[in-house]
Amino acid sequence: MTSQEAQKKIEELSAELNRANHQYYVLSNSEMSDFDFDLKLKLLQDLEQQFPQFALSNSPTKRVGGDITKKFNVIKHDYPMMSLANTYSKEEIEDWETRNHKLVGAEDLFGANFTYVCELKYDGVAIGVKYQNGNLVRAVTRGDGEKGEEVTANVKTIRSIPLQLHGNFPDEVEVRGEIFFPLDKFEALNREREDIGEPTFANPRNTASGTLKMQDSSVVASRGLDCMLYGVYAPKPIGSSHFESVEMAQSWGLKTPSTENRFIEVCQDVNGIMDFINYWDKERHNLPFEIDGIVIKVNEYNVQQDLGFTAKSPRWAIAYKYKAADAITELLEVTYQVGRTGAITPVANLEPVLLAGTTVRRASLHNADQIEKLDLHVGDFVHVEKGGEIIPKITAVDISKRKTGSSPVQYITHCPECTSALVRREGEAQHYCPNEMGCPPQIKGRIDHFIGRRAMDIDGLGSETVDLLVEKGLIETYGDLYELTYEQLIELDRFAEKSVTNLLNGVEQSKSIPFERVLFALGIRFVGETVAKKLARHYKTLEALQAAKLEDLILVDEIGDRIAQSVIDFFGNEKNKLLVERLEKYGLQLRLSEDQIQNSTQKLAGLSFVISGVFENHSRDELKNLIEQNGGKNVGSLSAKTSYLLRGENMGPSKLAKAEALQIKMISENEFINLIQ
Ligand code: IVH
Repeated sequence: MTSQEAQKKIEELSAELNRANHQYYVLSNSEMSDFDFDLKLKLLQDLEQQFPQFALSNSPTKRVGGDITKKFNVIKHDYPMMSLANTYSKEEIEDWETRNHKLVGAEDLFGANFTYVCELKYDGVAIGVKYQNGNLVRAVTRGDGEKGEEVTANVKTIRSIPLQLHGNFPDEVEVRGEIFFPLDKFEALNREREDIGEPTFANPRNTASGTLKMQDSSVVASRGLDCMLYGVYAPKPIGSSHFESVEMAQSWGLKTPSTENRFIEVCQDVNGIMDFINYWDKERHNLPFEIDGIVIKVNEYNVQQDLGFTAKSPRWAIAYKYKAADAITELLEVTYQVGRTGAITPVANLEPVLLAGTTVRRASLHNADQIEKLDLHVGDFVHVEKGGEIIPKITAVDISKRKTGSSPVQYITHCPECTSALVRREGEAQHYCPNEMGCPPQIKGRIDHFIGRRAMDIDGLGSETVDLLVEKGLIETYGDLYELTYEQLIELDRFAEKSVTNLLNGVEQSKSIPFERVLFALGIRFVGETVAKKLARHYKTLEALQAAKLEDLILVDEIGDRIAQSVIDFFGNEKNKLLVERLEKYGLQLRLSEDQIQNSTQKLAGLSFVISGVFENHSRDELKNLIEQNGGKNVGSLSAKTSYLLRGENMGPSKLAKAEALQIKMISENEFINLIQ
């Protein structure tokens, strides 16, 4: 290829991919398949590597991330990023609205005729994104409102933020919006972390904020953050009202709230505002992201100008906050749990209290930093709140009720289970017990993980039995399960002939569990279900995987340095090597079956499926396997990105409605089988 041809191709591909991104992430309808997209992106990446002089500054390859930012620059905002005054009741909204009329009416004859815009108050992180001549040039966090941190490389990986504007955009404009973690992405991230034995994240907002400040933008890219715009700032005002500017911004390709799903609404008066507030008070739980209230803004710019600002916030806008369910109770004690990987999780034990219909006894505290931040003392009265998460959290301490002489919670220095000195790796929030081989919960945790439903699925063996077997010294590793005998087990309390046979049968049956699940069951750090599948499909045998070098591993799709290193470390450990040799000897599946190798196709490459209902000829797990075997992807919940809903009998009505609303293709079991045959 001549350099001229390369330049032309780079420009064409960039434009095409930018267009596809916009269709996909902003308009939620895509014409290009994921597969084509990836192919073209790869081609562009290769070309840019060969001809770096032609790479565009806003190339779609920037979405993939990979830039390492050592430290973020602090930048002064062109327009200060203010905050909003909060209200909690209709009366406060009424007061605000009366005052607006008073202020405007007093100064300005044009007086009473203005409108309001109601919007969702997205619970994420504020960002200001500046475009010059339509190109994204920088993105800055709120910081202290005057100055913020420049996180451009990370923001460029967020697909709903265009790198280039289109249409009739102004030469210079800053758009402001909220970056947030969609709930399905957040749950998927936590599930993945659970699988690999990492502590889970506490809530979507903090995780979005933490993600945005990560040094490696490729990690940011992998997490699926989203962004919704709520303000447009330019040297010359855009249109004559807020609503108009939002509509204009949409025409430039930005993701803006829509009146169709009522994410934004123009209201005439308090009644209209309250109607919007009440609607979302009920409906907010069905949103695919978290909101913590509603923002109400005076719509017309000239009225906004008349109303002006206080020191901290505009008078023309106000937030209405929904009340989270909250209760006050006493902190009795902090105890510490040790996970499978040795991660320590502090737990607050509380005087039982009723909160949103359930009795709360415990709250998670996550790590030492959080305890310090809350300045917790034993015996404190604390506020517990139930947000979107299942486990309630402590949000604040009622200092006025603090007992004199009480002392701060002292984080433990030694493992509560095996007394080893705890370690805290640099840059990590969690403390760990390093005694991998001798610490009982770590020993048991690894075995629990191994026998789990999604791993070896050993019938007749549960966590309590594992505890008993470890305590009696009958097992120390999961390999020992395969040496258990009838005679040993029948001796145990609570064990009768039936339970012994069940357990032994379960162990026997696990020998036919397919390779990818065995690989997941081994409990290699960072190797969750998805990664295990990827590795199994790529290497086909455990032997090949064991022989792989770091350089080979990182070439496998979606395997990064961290996972690759962890695989190397695992098999580099003599004890693990011996353990795996034993598993081979017992007859576990340590290679893909002939069937798996022969029946695997790429017919469904680039397609994602949601399965719902019951089916005549296949179980849901069988269907899932078929999807994966043919190169497709299983996803947990419906989104605009889902390619097909595989629909069985008795599907829930809400799912059906959602699929219809998102216009997702629905196919029957038979149609699906035809698709892969
Ligand atoms: S307007 C001058 N609109 O809430 C204030 N803010 O409590 C401009 N937020 O820092 C803010 N959704 O991060 C506005 N629809 C929305 C919002 C919103 C969330 C956040 C934003 C702001 C904070 C203020």
